[in-house]
Amino acid sequence: MKAIQIHEFGGPEVLKYEEAPRPTPAPDEILIKVYATGVNPVDWKIREGVRKEPATTRFPLIPGWDVSGVVEETGPGVENFKKGDEVYSRPDISKNGTYAEYVAVKADQVGRKPRSIDHVNAAGVPLAGLTAWQGLFDHGKLRAGEKVLILGASGGVGSFAVQFAKWKGAYVIATSSERNVDFLKKLGADEVLDYKKENFEEKLHDIDLVFDTVGAQTQARSIQVLKKGGRLITTVKPENEREAKDKNIRQEGYMTQSLPSELDEIANLIDSGKIKPVVSKVFQLDQAAEAQELSKEGHVRGKIVLRVINE
Ligand SMILES: NC(=O)c1ccc[n+]([C@@H]2O[C@H](COP(=O)([O-])OP(=O)(O)OC[C@H]3O[C@@H](n4cnc5c(N)ncnc54)[C@H](OP(=O)(O)O)[C@@H]3O)[C@@H](O)[C@H]2O)c1
Repeated sequence: MKAIQIHEFGGPEVLKYEEAPRPTPAPDEILIKVYATGVNPVDWKIREGVRKEPATTRFPLIPGWDVSGVVEETGPGVENFKKGDEVYSRPDISKNGTYAEYVAVKADQVGRKPRSIDHVNAAGVPLAGLTAWQGLFDHGKLRAGEKVLILGASGGVGSFAVQFAKWKGAYVIATSSERNVDFLKKLGADEVLDYKKENFEEKLHDIDLVFDTVGAQTQARSIQVLKKGGRLITTVKPENEREAKDKNIRQEGYMTQSLPSELDEIANLIDSGKIKPVVSKVFQLDQAAEAQELSKEGHVRGKIVLRVINE
């Protein structure tokens, strides 16, 4: 099969479009014919060796952990999927990824693709959608009527978080640069603060939950806007743990889990028109280097997707 592989850590030039062996599904796995794959910041972080785990230092490595496609084959132990089913998934990062024509994924990490959107739009959902869902609801315990501040609201994770929080009935405050203010209001944000022009900590107070996708000083400053006993949930490294503790803030970082029940719930929300995935740029698979460079710039609205099959 054709795939993007890396044989060493490095810049975008280490991404090679080449022949790779087609995976064989293990007994509990599904072989997915990949129609499209999402591009996420973790992809270039692994390519550069910034994020190293035993599983991501094994070469050749196929990057990408976000897929929409069709079941090609099932392992003998898989009963709930069959050849031809349309599926989407955030496969385990400890294995080869989705920048390829086929990927083998554990059946318990696969959900049914939303029926109302094509594979390109569906491919941007699993990783970012699950991250937003788990941050707000599983870890953040967001409830209707609460005030949530979403930092980095116009990105892949943030654009889902704004919509999920609004759907839940929360009061949603978002941060972005000026060019994304109207976009975020249309997604459902009640207030949008331009992080380049105003300091959110001078305007906000008594926030119940901060959902942070930016980190560093932005995250550290957000402790000031939380009410005593509030929650700060971050997709990146937790900062200033001492200050959080002093203010009785529950601060938590987490790693996204591939939960099919949540993938199915998100698919239902998309099919009922309540949530709209935002894909701002689509590349072909062999343009992975360009796509990752754009991701690394850190100013993409919504998602970047690589198209593998032209539907
Ligand atoms: N823990 C996990 O399991 C997990 C899962 C997914 C993602 N992550 C991490 O979470 C982070 C976000 O991921 P992502 O996919 O959402 O990234 P992304 O799509 O690349 O985010 C880009 C967005 O960030 C916004 N942004 C940049 N600086 C900002 C600032 N200072 N304040 C507010 N917004 C800012 C940009 O908006 P403007 O153009 O308006 O500046 C842009 O829309 C990454 O570090 C990623 O690695 C972790």
